[in-house]
Amino acid sequence: MTPEQVQLVRLSFVSVMDIKLEAGRLFYDRLFTIAPEARPMFKGDIEAQSKKLMDTLALAIGSLKNPGALQGMLDNLARRHVGYGVRDEHYDKVGEALLWTLEKGLGPAFTSEVKTAWASLYDTVASRMKAAAHQRTATA
Ligand code: HEM
Repeated sequence: MTPEQVQLVRLSFVSVMDIKLEAGRLFYDRLFTIAPEARPMFKGDIEAQSKKLMDTLALAIGSLKNPGALQGMLDNLARRHVGYGVRDEHYDKVGEALLWTLEKGLGPAFTSEVKTAWASLYDTVASRMKAAAHQRTATA
Protein backbone atom coordinates (compact mmCIF):
# COMPACT_ATOMS: atom_id res chain seq x y z
CA MET A 1 0.00 0.00 0.00
CA THR A 2 1.20 3.53 -0.75
CA PRO A 3 1.36 6.13 2.05
CA GLU A 4 -1.61 7.90 0.36
CA GLN A 5 -3.66 4.70 0.51
CA VAL A 6 -2.82 4.23 4.18
CA GLN A 7 -4.06 7.77 4.80
CA LEU A 8 -7.30 7.20 2.83
CA VAL A 9 -8.08 4.02 4.78
CA ARG A 10 -7.33 5.74 8.10
CA LEU A 11 -9.57 8.72 7.38
CA SER A 12 -12.49 6.70 6.04
CA PHE A 13 -12.25 4.21 8.92
CA VAL A 14 -12.99 7.06 11.36
CA SER A 15 -16.32 7.59 9.56
CA VAL A 16 -17.04 3.84 9.63
CA MET A 17 -16.44 3.79 13.39
CA ASP A 18 -19.17 6.46 13.72
CA ILE A 19 -21.65 3.96 12.27
CA LYS A 20 -19.96 0.86 13.72
CA LEU A 21 -23.12 -1.02 14.78
CA GLU A 22 -24.98 -0.30 11.58
CA ALA A 23 -21.92 -1.21 9.50
CA GLY A 24 -21.62 -4.52 11.35
CA ARG A 25 -25.25 -5.34 10.70
CA LEU A 26 -25.01 -4.40 7.01
CA PHE A 27 -21.85 -6.46 6.65
CA TYR A 28 -23.23 -9.71 8.08
CA ASP A 29 -26.58 -9.34 6.27
CA ARG A 30 -24.64 -8.97 3.03
CA LEU A 31 -22.23 -11.81 3.81
CA PHE A 32 -25.04 -14.25 4.61
CA THR A 33 -26.85 -13.22 1.41
CA ILE A 34 -23.85 -13.90 -0.84
CA ALA A 35 -22.46 -16.83 1.22
CA PRO A 36 -25.40 -18.49 3.02
CA GLU A 37 -23.24 -21.57 3.70
CA ALA A 38 -21.17 -19.44 6.10
CA ARG A 39 -24.12 -18.68 8.41
CA PRO A 40 -23.96 -21.94 10.47
CA MET A 41 -20.23 -21.37 11.17
CA PHE A 42 -21.13 -18.44 13.42
CA LYS A 43 -22.20 -19.76 16.81
CA GLY A 44 -21.89 -16.60 18.87
CA ASP A 45 -23.66 -13.25 19.01
CA ILE A 46 -23.33 -11.49 15.65
CA GLU A 47 -23.11 -8.04 17.22
CA ALA A 48 -20.12 -9.11 19.35
CA GLN A 49 -18.64 -10.79 16.29
CA SER A 50 -18.91 -7.67 14.17
CA LYS A 51 -17.15 -5.72 16.93
CA LYS A 52 -14.25 -8.22 16.81
CA LEU A 53 -13.96 -7.87 13.06
CA MET A 54 -13.92 -4.07 13.28
CA ASP A 55 -11.38 -4.17 16.14
CA THR A 56 -9.09 -6.44 14.10
CA LEU A 57 -9.36 -4.10 11.11
CA ALA A 58 -8.58 -1.15 13.39
CA LEU A 59 -5.52 -3.03 14.62
CA ALA A 60 -4.47 -3.80 11.04
CA ILE A 61 -4.83 -0.13 10.09
CA GLY A 62 -2.87 0.90 13.18
CA SER A 63 -0.06 -1.51 12.26
CA LEU A 64 0.26 -0.56 8.59
CA LYS A 65 3.51 1.22 9.27
CA ASN A 66 4.88 -1.81 11.11
CA PRO A 67 3.33 -4.87 9.46
CA GLY A 68 5.76 -7.29 11.10
CA ALA A 69 4.03 -6.77 14.44
CA LEU A 70 0.75 -7.98 12.99
CA GLN A 71 1.89 -11.09 11.15
CA GLY A 72 2.16 -13.53 14.05
CA MET A 73 -1.27 -12.45 15.25
CA LEU A 74 -2.80 -12.97 11.78
CA ASP A 75 -1.18 -16.41 11.46
CA ASN A 76 -2.78 -17.53 14.72
CA LEU A 77 -6.10 -15.98 13.71
CA ALA A 78 -5.92 -17.85 10.38
CA ARG A 79 -5.27 -21.17 12.12
CA ARG A 80 -8.31 -20.68 14.33
CA HIS A 81 -10.33 -19.89 11.19
CA VAL A 82 -9.40 -23.26 9.68
CA GLY A 83 -11.02 -24.74 12.80
CA TYR A 84 -14.19 -22.66 12.18
CA GLY A 85 -14.45 -24.29 8.74
CA VAL A 86 -13.31 -21.22 6.76
CA ARG A 87 -11.82 -21.90 3.30
CA ASP A 88 -10.10 -19.67 0.70
CA GLU A 89 -13.26 -18.79 -1.21
CA HIS A 90 -14.85 -17.40 1.96
CA TYR A 91 -12.14 -14.75 2.14
CA ASP A 92 -13.26 -13.45 -1.25
CA LYS A 93 -16.88 -13.28 -0.05
CA VAL A 94 -15.90 -11.46 3.14
CA GLY A 95 -13.85 -8.99 1.07
CA GLU A 96 -16.82 -8.44 -1.24
CA ALA A 97 -19.22 -7.90 1.69
CA LEU A 98 -16.74 -5.51 3.32
CA LEU A 99 -16.40 -3.29 0.23
CA TRP A 100 -20.18 -3.35 -0.26
CA THR A 101 -20.69 -2.25 3.37
CA LEU A 102 -18.18 0.58 3.01
CA GLU A 103 -19.91 1.76 -0.13
CA LYS A 104 -23.30 1.81 1.63
CA GLY A 105 -21.92 3.31 4.83
CA LEU A 106 -19.66 6.01 3.37
CA GLY A 107 -21.80 7.02 0.39
CA PRO A 108 -20.10 9.55 -1.93
CA ALA A 109 -17.00 9.57 0.31
CA PHE A 110 -16.33 6.04 -0.96
CA THR A 111 -14.47 7.20 -4.07
CA SER A 112 -12.65 4.80 -6.39
CA GLU A 113 -9.34 5.75 -4.68
CA VAL A 114 -10.79 4.92 -1.26
CA LYS A 115 -12.17 1.64 -2.63
CA THR A 116 -8.79 0.62 -4.09
CA ALA A 117 -7.06 1.48 -0.80
CA TRP A 118 -9.48 -0.69 1.20
CA ALA A 119 -9.26 -3.54 -1.30
CA SER A 120 -5.50 -3.39 -0.94
CA LEU A 121 -5.66 -3.50 2.87
CA TYR A 122 -8.10 -6.42 2.86
CA ASP A 123 -6.03 -8.26 0.29
CA THR A 124 -2.88 -7.85 2.41
CA VAL A 125 -4.61 -9.26 5.50
CA ALA A 126 -6.52 -12.03 3.67
CA SER A 127 -3.46 -13.18 1.67
CA ARG A 128 -1.45 -13.52 4.85
CA MET A 129 -4.27 -15.46 6.54
CA LYS A 130 -4.79 -17.79 3.56
CA ALA A 131 -1.05 -18.54 3.39
CA ALA A 132 -1.00 -19.40 7.11
CA ALA A 133 -4.10 -21.58 6.70
CA HIS A 134 -2.42 -23.52 3.87
CA GLN A 135 0.66 -24.07 5.97
CA ARG A 136 -1.44 -25.50 8.74
CA THR A 137 -3.31 -27.74 6.29
CA ALA A 138 0.00 -28.94 4.84
CA THR A 139 1.49 -29.78 8.22
CA ALA A 140 -1.69 -31.07 9.92
C1 HEM B 1 -9.58 -10.33 7.17
C2 HEM B 1 -10.27 -11.38 7.44
C3 HEM B 1 -10.84 -11.74 8.79
C4 HEM B 1 -10.63 -11.19 10.03
C5 HEM B 1 -9.75 -9.99 10.39
C6 HEM B 1 -11.42 -11.96 10.99
C7 HEM B 1 -11.45 -11.74 12.36
C8 HEM B 1 -12.06 -12.57 13.28
C9 HEM B 1 -11.91 -12.47 14.72
C10 HEM B 1 -11.05 -11.43 15.44
C11 HEM B 1 -12.65 -13.46 15.29
C12 HEM B 1 -12.81 -13.73 16.79
C13 HEM B 1 -12.38 -15.12 17.20
C14 HEM B 1 -10.88 -15.39 17.06
O1 HEM B 1 -10.07 -14.49 17.34
O2 HEM B 1 -10.54 -16.53 16.67
C15 HEM B 1 -13.27 -14.20 14.20
C16 HEM B 1 -14.11 -15.28 14.34
C17 HEM B 1 -14.76 -15.92 13.30
N1 HEM B 1 -14.63 -15.64 11.96
FE1 HEM B 1 -13.39 -14.29 11.14
N2 HEM B 1 -12.11 -12.93 10.31
C18 HEM B 1 -11.79 -12.83 8.98
C19 HEM B 1 -12.26 -13.61 7.95
C20 HEM B 1 -13.26 -14.55 8.09
C21 HEM B 1 -13.84 -15.30 6.99
C22 HEM B 1 -13.41 -15.19 5.53
C23 HEM B 1 -14.81 -16.09 7.52
C24 HEM B 1 -15.73 -17.04 6.77
C25 HEM B 1 -16.94 -16.71 6.44
C26 HEM B 1 -14.80 -15.88 8.97
C27 HEM B 1 -15.59 -16.54 9.87
C28 HEM B 1 -15.43 -16.50 11.25
C29 HEM B 1 -16.13 -17.40 12.18
C30 HEM B 1 -17.12 -18.50 11.78
C31 HEM B 1 -15.71 -17.03 13.47
C32 HEM B 1 -16.18 -17.66 14.81
C33 HEM B 1 -17.50 -17.05 15.18
C34 HEM B 1 -18.19 -17.71 16.34
O3 HEM B 1 -17.53 -18.40 17.13
O4 HEM B 1 -19.40 -17.52 16.41
N3 HEM B 1 -13.86 -14.93 9.26
N4 HEM B 1 -12.91 -13.63 13.00
